[in-house]
Amino acid sequence: MIMDHLKEALMRLENKGRLRSLSSAQGVDFTSNDYLGFATHPELVKAGELFFSQGGAVGSAASRLLHGYMDEHFQLEAYAADYFEAPASLFFSTGFQANMALMSALAQRGDAIIFDSLIHASSRDGIQASLAKHYRAAHNDLNAYEEALKKAREAVKGQLWVAVEAVYSMDGDDAPLDELYTLCQHYGATLIIDEAHGVGVCGATGKGVSEALVKTHGYDGIICVHTCGKALGAAGGLVCASKSVIEYLVNTARGFIYTTAPMPIQAHMVRCALELLQTPQGQRQRQKLFSNCAALKTHLGGLGSHIVPVVIGEDQCAVNISDFMRDRGYDVRAIRPPTVPHGSARLRVSLNADLSVEEINGFCDALSEARSVIEGKAA
Ligand SMILES: Cc1ncc(COP(=O)(O)O)c(C=O)c1O
Repeated sequence: MIMDHLKEALMRLENKGRLRSLSSAQGVDFTSNDYLGFATHPELVKAGELFFSQGGAVGSAASRLLHGYMDEHFQLEAYAADYFEAPASLFFSTGFQANMALMSALAQRGDAIIFDSLIHASSRDGIQASLAKHYRAAHNDLNAYEEALKKAREAVKGQLWVAVEAVYSMDGDDAPLDELYTLCQHYGATLIIDEAHGVGVCGATGKGVSEALVKTHGYDGIICVHTCGKALGAAGGLVCASKSVIEYLVNTARGFIYTTAPMPIQAHMVRCALELLQTPQGQRQRQKLFSNCAALKTHLGGLGSHIVPVVIGEDQCAVNISDFMRDRGYDVRAIRPPTVPHGSARLRVSLNADLSVEEINGFCDALSEARSVIEGKAA
């Protein structure tokens, strides 16, 4: 009976053109979040090999609060706090877990969270799990944020939290962090910035879109989440914040307490990636990424970001274009609702430093052909 119910639900998804299935990476990568090519960078591969050859442990074997707090975690958190100029940092196994833990632990009954309408599922789930009231603000609309902050201030006596993404994962646009911070200060709210797609890429040196904001204001009223599985090429989520926020998370965040600590090599690789980012080699990768962004912009227009949405609209049409591209040797995936708003199914084109201009030109030619064959229109 239950199985029938599930099968029917799957059938409904299929009929809507929304059934997802796993397909392995193939073709030239225009889809991953490995923006700097760090996931396979020879320096990082070497560092990983050295880690085990020098006797590094495989697993951490327990929660961080028990036996699982290893030297590699300590080293990374101290390094990250220093690098991101934060009073303290805390490492989680994934960015999803970090966001989920942060929202659900910090925002309590009697508080309110204002969140951007396009914020990631990890923050949404954390907000949903929190006992705080929540208010949705239209994407990057400062008037909508102010309206929501006013409503929240009238409705609750507790803390106000504002959750945004530094670079929006499906649209590639930045949050107006300076203006949001000013608003937050006016209403006594704390700004929580998810740097998943900003860290490693944005800011003067790659610390994220919040780099300048944090330099000016420190972490008073600001919390940053730096995920480590995208430009940093590894995995995990680093929360950077005041000492009291971090201590509070250690004591209350269920996603931190009730789980096995990240593998020590994971913490080690994140630290090596942060080190690599600061070398001339790391900064060269950033520059290459930026020139690839400029090259793609000449074809597709847009913001010149490393994430470029090619909005198709109809779900199945987006899938057909993605399939066409795969047959031409390019890996670019269709993103459908509920990940993106209804009617805005798209190809999420993402760039990385290791692409050549020839590959970008070839990709754009194939995309143009795909759109004219499938949609009857040129890209
Ligand atoms: C904006 C944003 N935040 C958080 C996450 C979760 O990070 P992780 O992949 O490390 O779990 C993602 C992943 O897709 C993301 O796009």
